Amino acid sequence: MRQLSRATVALALSVSAAAGLAVSNGLLGCATEANAEATQDAETFTIGSKNLLPPELFDRNLVVTVGEPPADAIEQPIAFTHTLHVKQLGVDCNYCHSNARKGLHAGVPATSVCMGCHALVDATGRPELEKLKGYWERGEVIPWNKVHDLPDYVYFSHKRHISGGLQCQECHGEVQEMTVNERVASLKMGWCLDCHAQHESIDENYGTKAELRRAELKDCWTCHK
Ligand code: HEC
Ligand code: HEC
Ligand code: HEC
Ligand code: HEC
Ligand code: HEC
Repeated sequence: MRQLSRATVALALSVSAAAGLAVSNGLLGCATEANAEATQDAETFTIGSKNLLPPELFDRNLVVTVGEPPADAIEQPIAFTHTLHVKQLGVDCNYCHSNARKGLHAGVPATSVCMGCHALVDATGRPELEKLKGYWERGEVIPWNKVHDLPDYVYFSHKRHISGGLQCQECHGEVQEMTVNERVASLKMGWCLDCHAQHESIDENYGTKAELRRAELKDCWTCHK
């Protein structure tokens, strides 16, 4: 695992911002394993009662890493391919993940979305399409396995990122080239902080207030509330 100095700086800054607001609920030492000097200088700060962090995460050193994505792609109940649907057939991401623009979750499409087309595609002798038809006829939800899954104490909103002008591929990689879904990001805290510290859309969208916005995006409360 890679240690990230930028994320460490970001963390140290938001510590002082958060300390004034917080209701005491526990203490967290802010430090990195790789940097012993930083550990000595580390500030402690209070965690507010309103945030989502579970109590077992208090009272210890917080190690912020960017992390590595997992090596293996995840198996799915039906061999759905993004490459075929997005690249060859030209279906837009939003056709199947329409919630990404509107809410916290992008969501996976309901089987009815698939059947809008697949009712017209002959499934005979094609096992993957027969499976799809089977789920539909039995009225069963397809048990897709999650590829991305943040801990419950993290607040993430798709809408906020899409409305800021970010592309799906910045966080999910070249999905249109994938057969089985792979996760290209670690989803570690350092990954979020690293981008929040430097994404060009912040300068474009906030102009002279960009510094203020970047400070806000470092604050614990942004992602743990
Ligand atoms: C025809 C419908 C369809 C289209 C179009 C589509 N997807 Fe998907 N997507 C799915 C289905 C079904 C799954 C669940 C199966 C899987 O993970 O492969 C999925 C899964 C995903 C996941 C992983 C979800 C998880 O479990 O974490 C991501 C990320 C994703 N899609 C992004 C995209 C992006 C980006 C595009 C456009 C480039 C896109 N999708 C276009 C149907 C679609
Ligand atoms: C916009 C129309 C459209 C939508 C929506 C759509 N598909 Fe497809 N899908 C197709 C077409 C067209 C093919 C290619 C059929 C062919 O090769 O004759 C295909 C192929 C497939 C195949 C490959 C079949 C094989 O034998 O290799 C699978 C699996 C599949 N789709 C699953 C899904 C699932 C699951 C969904 C919903 C999440 C979905 N599709 C949504 C149009 C669609
Ligand atoms: C800023 C990074 C970022 C961008 C941009 C982004 N995603 Fe995500 N996506 C995530 C994270 C993080 C998760 C895991 C969320 C969770 O577990 O609560 C996720 C989860 C998903 C999932 C799994 C279902 C869900 O909602 O949890 C799908 C599908 C998905 N994203 C599709 C998309 C599509 C399509 C786009 C573009 C329209 C997009 N994402 C843009 C970071 C991003
Ligand atoms: C690729 C860059 C990128 C990554 C990765 C990323 N973000 Fe963001 N995020 C942004 C940008 C840019 C904004 C500001 C959007 C705007 O205001 O226009 C933002 C805004 C947000 C907001 C909205 C804050 C508010 O007050 O409105 C939340 C919450 C958030 N991000 C959480 C996360 C979390 C949690 C992760 C990691 C799981 C993450 N982000 C990863 C770029 C990113
Ligand atoms: C931009 C979003 C974001 C901000 C800002 C943020 N975090 Fe996190 N945090 C995350 C994500 C995502 C995770 C889960 C992934 C991980 O363990 O790295 C996490 C995990 C944690 C954990 C558990 C880590 C572990 O090792 O189990 C603690 C504790 C934590 N954050 C505290 C804080 C504190 C304190 C602040 C403010 C100084 C803060 N976070 C700011 C996104 C954020």
